[in-house]
Amino acid sequence: MLYLDNAATSYPKPESVYNELNGYLEREGANPGRGNYQFAFQTEKTIEATRLLAGQFFGMPDHHRVIFTLNGTDSLNIAIKGTVQPGDHVITSLLEHNSVSRPLKQLEENQVITLTQIPFSTEGFVDPNDFRKAITSRTRLITLLHASNVLGTIQPITEIGKICRENNLLFLVDAAQTAGIIPIDMSTSHIDLLACPGHKSLLGPTGIGLLLIGDRASLSPWREGGTGTHSENPRQPKELPYLLESGTPNTLGIAGLRAGMQFIIREGFDKIRSHDQKLLSQLVTMLVEKKECQLYGSLDIDQRVGSLAINWKNYTSSEVGAILDESFQIAVRPGLHCAPYVHRYLKTAPEGLIRISPGYFNTMEDIYECCEALYQL
Ligand SMILES: Cc1ncc(COP(=O)(O)O)c(C=O)c1O
Repeated sequence: MLYLDNAATSYPKPESVYNELNGYLEREGANPGRGNYQFAFQTEKTIEATRLLAGQFFGMPDHHRVIFTLNGTDSLNIAIKGTVQPGDHVITSLLEHNSVSRPLKQLEENQVITLTQIPFSTEGFVDPNDFRKAITSRTRLITLLHASNVLGTIQPITEIGKICRENNLLFLVDAAQTAGIIPIDMSTSHIDLLACPGHKSLLGPTGIGLLLIGDRASLSPWREGGTGTHSENPRQPKELPYLLESGTPNTLGIAGLRAGMQFIIREGFDKIRSHDQKLLSQLVTMLVEKKECQLYGSLDIDQRVGSLAINWKNYTSSEVGAILDESFQIAVRPGLHCAPYVHRYLKTAPEGLIRISPGYFNTMEDIYECCEALYQL
């Protein structure tokens, strides 16, 4: 099987992640923060070390403001629903994944917030000026993804972060497609809330995500209890991370995420990013000349991460996906990619596109093999 769906989740994981997960529950199987004994302290140490590492990874000096969540969607829901208040105005883009657009649309329908969705250019980029122009006296939050999970295009988050600071707004960034590929510094990019899954390019297992909370943001929790500490308190503790982490944490996922981030640090962002760009560049070169193939989004590899959305003449995206899977054992993702507004705007809905997303462990031969299979269509 040739796996080219890393934008959904990374596969395979580094050997060191598998090694860490192997036998982890035998080595550190206690419930952290609940037991006053050595076995539980060891699990707590792993959790704190992961928090610290994630803080360093994203330029967040206070590691208590790093929250473990279930996945990217969970981080985004906690950030959005913990921030907005009745009467607020929120600005987002038409590029968003539905883990942002659905909660916002529901809040709008429930008349809690008003919402502006900023369109993007044919190349796949939002214009910071459109965000500036959309700000009203009621705007509290701007939420934007760092790179589109359909087009791969990298958005101007630092410029928009600056606009947020100038207007005293909170800035939430969905880094699902970039965390672990492109360095992100919360302070340089003026990010107040950074949401990322642990299972994509951070190379951890499924079931774990991160939410990093800058000191301008204060969130209210929607899960309460089960913090293990402050049991004398009838209410949820106010301090982070306890305020937002309720219930027994996913210790296995946290340990695996730590190993994933350590792998990225060892390899280095330069090597990871340049591999990503080499594969993408080859993919584009081999497909752009084919008259049957339509490529979407900017082809400037410096302005995108390595997933490519295409359309093949006379085939629907689901047909191409099924043929690649059944006849060639190649895994790509057809359809709408949980981003219906992108496809509506591109006029590729309801059928969607085929997304080919190589990862760090793919090789140039994998790209040749995928393109050769597509040529046979
Ligand atoms: C841009 C973007 N945001 C959010 C998510 C949701 O992440 P998760 O699947 O971990 O909930 C995804 C997943 O594909 C994504 O691509």
